[in-house]
Amino acid sequence: MRIAIIGTGYVGLVSGACFSDFGHDVICVDKDVGKIDALERGVMPIFEPGLDQLVARNAAAGRLTFSTELASAIRGAEAIFIAVGTPSRRGDGHADLSYVFAAAHEIAAELDGPAVVVTKSTVPVGTGDEVERIIRETNPGARAWVVSNPEFLREGAAIEDFKHPDRIVVGAEAEEAAELMREVYRPLYLNRAPLLVTSRRTAELIKYAANAFLATKITFINEIADLCEAVGADVQDVARGIGLDGRIGPKFLHAGPGYGGSCFPKDTLALLKTAEDYQAPLRIVEAVAKVNEARKRAMGRKVIRAMGDDVRGKTVALLGLTFKPNTDDMRDAPSIAIVQALEDAGVQVRGYDPEGMEQARPLMPQVALCASPYEAADGADAVVLVTEWDALRALDLKRLAAAMKGNVLVDLRNIYRADEAASAGLAWEGIGKPMAGQDLTDGAATSIGTAR
Ligand SMILES: NC(=O)c1ccc[n+]([C@@H]2O[C@H](COP(=O)([O-])OP(=O)(O)OC[C@H]3O[C@@H](n4cnc5c(N)ncnc54)[C@H](O)[C@@H]3O)[C@@H](O)[C@H]2O)c1
Repeated sequence: MRIAIIGTGYVGLVSGACFSDFGHDVICVDKDVGKIDALERGVMPIFEPGLDQLVARNAAAGRLTFSTELASAIRGAEAIFIAVGTPSRRGDGHADLSYVFAAAHEIAAELDGPAVVVTKSTVPVGTGDEVERIIRETNPGARAWVVSNPEFLREGAAIEDFKHPDRIVVGAEAEEAAELMREVYRPLYLNRAPLLVTSRRTAELIKYAANAFLATKITFINEIADLCEAVGADVQDVARGIGLDGRIGPKFLHAGPGYGGSCFPKDTLALLKTAEDYQAPLRIVEAVAKVNEARKRAMGRKVIRAMGDDVRGKTVALLGLTFKPNTDDMRDAPSIAIVQALEDAGVQVRGYDPEGMEQARPLMPQVALCASPYEAADGADAVVLVTEWDALRALDLKRLAAAMKGNVLVDLRNIYRADEAASAGLAWEGIGKPMAGQDLTDGAATSIGTAR
């Protein structure tokens, strides 16, 4: 099939590369000339494991090309995917649909068809109706169907996720459109990835409901972690104890500094706006968004407490700055709020990340970015593990301790154990872990009463 992808960011580029790998003839379009020039030279605009080889292989085979010219790209295409950004609209948290609608106008003007116009961007319920209206008004003769096909890939494992999805969701109002989408995904469909055909509005909502549910799961275990700290329980054991229950499942139960990234924060807010507009409030998601936002800065205060509160003029090294490992994406990363809280308290911050430093630099201009974790730890009073990159999972703790001035290791991902840190001379503090010498009598009298 001939496929055009409009927007060559994380989703557009990964989708385009994977579709071409299935044997489709794919052209990826972007307005950003620098990005397209770089891709034509084989230089990836993002860090995503395996993407450079996948792009190189399919470009060399002539199945994957890049362009800044939308008009020629969509000529003869049977499927046109819209994969542009849908950031939070400044001020009110609604999804900013200006890029989607601009792309729809551009597509409509050039469209002949028959083709499906597919929104892969995450868009609020009803956006497909509006894209369809734009196409009908701009080009009444076009033979096109508007379809929703939300994307569930995770950055850092994007290719694997795209090629082996848990499900493919297609929201289509016409059987012809659903049939074209089955053709697009046929290679995966044959591998038995379930292809779920729903109404277009349902498909749009599935994406937001999935992200809101995952954000809720993370936030739930984060709050349980706080309770664990208060009562002297261990959140990792609690997570295992509940995750082994098949109804709950073990994934997304890792306590940490709060979720970030390019999707969960903006998608939960956009879903809340939809709920507000339709007067069907989502109280649980409201609480999740608030709790998570507060948590990121609270992690800065946790570090300050671990350092004995008197931190003005002290130095802290943050290891791992991206919102999760295996990406250079810094959008809404918890490290940004942690840096802010520390700098507000007069701390000098140093930082290291295996891939994200270029993206981090403009977001944390005061932070001294270093070439290795040990260089970042040099002279630091405390080291904070923020993101669990593999490269940070097996640090030489003795070497780290020797480089540091102080001895505090705050491990926001529970990678290390208190005893191994102690044997390197470090005072370890994790998330949701019992603390040495903790007074556990607080609250007991009121919550369980006193034995008679
Ligand atoms: N990043 C993820 O992990 C992920 C996962 C699932 C869904 N999504 C959703 O997919 C969408 C895209 O996200 P992303 O992270 O790939 O965004 P991105 O910002 O990385 O890429 C968007 C690209 O679209 C281009 N663009 C904008 N308007 C254009 C136009 N009219 N014509 C051509 N190009 C245009 C931009 O230049 C940019 O390169 C969003 O709605 C997002 O919520 C993202």
